[in-house]
Amino acid sequence: MESRPSLILCNVQLPEGRVVDLSIRKGVVVHAGSSGASEVRIDCAGMFVLPAAVDMHVHMRGGLQSGKEDWTTGSRSALGGGVTVVVDQPNTIPPIDSPGALRDRVRDAQEHSLCHFAINSSVTADIPFDEMGRAGAMAFGETFYAPSSYGEALGRDALSLALERIHAVDGLATIHAEEISTGPDLDLALHDERRSVDGEVRAVKEVQNLNGSHCRLHLCHLSSARSIDAASGSVEVTPHHLFLSRDQFRKDDPRGKVNPPLRSEKHRRELLSRWDGIDVIASDHAPHTIAEKGEDFSDAPSGIPGVETMVPLLLGKVLDGTLSLPSVIEKTSSTPARLLGIPPAGFAVGDRGDFALYQKKAVRIRADMLHSKCGWTSYENHPAVFPEMVILGGEVVYHEGEFPRGKPSWFPGKGFVPGS
Ligand code: NCD
Repeated sequence: MESRPSLILCNVQLPEGRVVDLSIRKGVVVHAGSSGASEVRIDCAGMFVLPAAVDMHVHMRGGLQSGKEDWTTGSRSALGGGVTVVVDQPNTIPPIDSPGALRDRVRDAQEHSLCHFAINSSVTADIPFDEMGRAGAMAFGETFYAPSSYGEALGRDALSLALERIHAVDGLATIHAEEISTGPDLDLALHDERRSVDGEVRAVKEVQNLNGSHCRLHLCHLSSARSIDAASGSVEVTPHHLFLSRDQFRKDDPRGKVNPPLRSEKHRRELLSRWDGIDVIASDHAPHTIAEKGEDFSDAPSGIPGVETMVPLLLGKVLDGTLSLPSVIEKTSSTPARLLGIPPAGFAVGDRGDFALYQKKAVRIRADMLHSKCGWTSYENHPAVFPEMVILGGEVVYHEGEFPRGKPSWFPGKGFVPGS
């Protein structure tokens, strides 16, 4: 006889409107319909029930950068925002540029992460691409086609060769495409000028031209409507480029400093108008300490934390009627899972049993509500809808400020060869 489901989510309203009970056993959805008995039942009547998000662009830091964030605080921050899978970027110190470094990173995350995770490989001219794939790298990059905080840029020839090699191992190349001009970097307007929209558009086109081998491309954190229009391959946009403009900050406030830069209000609105053309929303969660963000503008590192506020900000826009719920689920959960080859979370039998449950009520964001070690947010006072409860593999892993430990997994890339 089949064992009873370990969890039933009752009265779940599906995005198309039907109300069902979802039964989850051994980490996956086993039934959607009317329910039988189970150890735990949770009533979801009147709530938003979302397949939990996959944030495919997160800098979890750790190691020498543990003052900014580590796997425990970063994964709490993810769960507190309805994200159960994070894809960690390889610009750590040291970078993830060898199978040994990748394995160390996986071990650290296995010991400390409270959410599922995947780890990307660095991309430099002399990375052992094949070995990185076999060691379990999820994707390659972000590949810097312009330097950023803790990221050195690849030149044209090196990028072209890297794309060929990534293609040869059937990998996904994730690209940070920008162009930087010389000039002072003293405030947000000058930062925007140095790393301009025109430059980003040119960089996107150049990367595509250099991709003679037709490697699968994913363009990270595009910051303007014109860059989206120029892009072929999958397109990622961050909440900060959708919801923040440089006009909302004091003119030399480093808390608005990020790469690519925050743009003008006009550009921000245009970007939001391209919502349907965006494949993935990812946070580019890039925590730096308050002290670092208190330095002079030109010395302060670039980056904005955001894994915990990503889905809550988007749901704020669902509540006010700007965005549709299915489109938010698609861009934060189904599409990133499909691009990465991760089992999708969802409402169908066989889907990964990861969900976030939200009361349909917006609150104003305050830094002290959030769980990142960095302790600050650029979204003070923005309306957002936070999860009341988060489920990972059918187990409650976040509820009312508590994080009971579940069974998070490492998702290696599809080239992974166990024991290699
Ligand atoms: C990122 C960081 O801090 O690691 N900073 C940023 O401004 N986005 C690096 C990066 O993704 O460019």
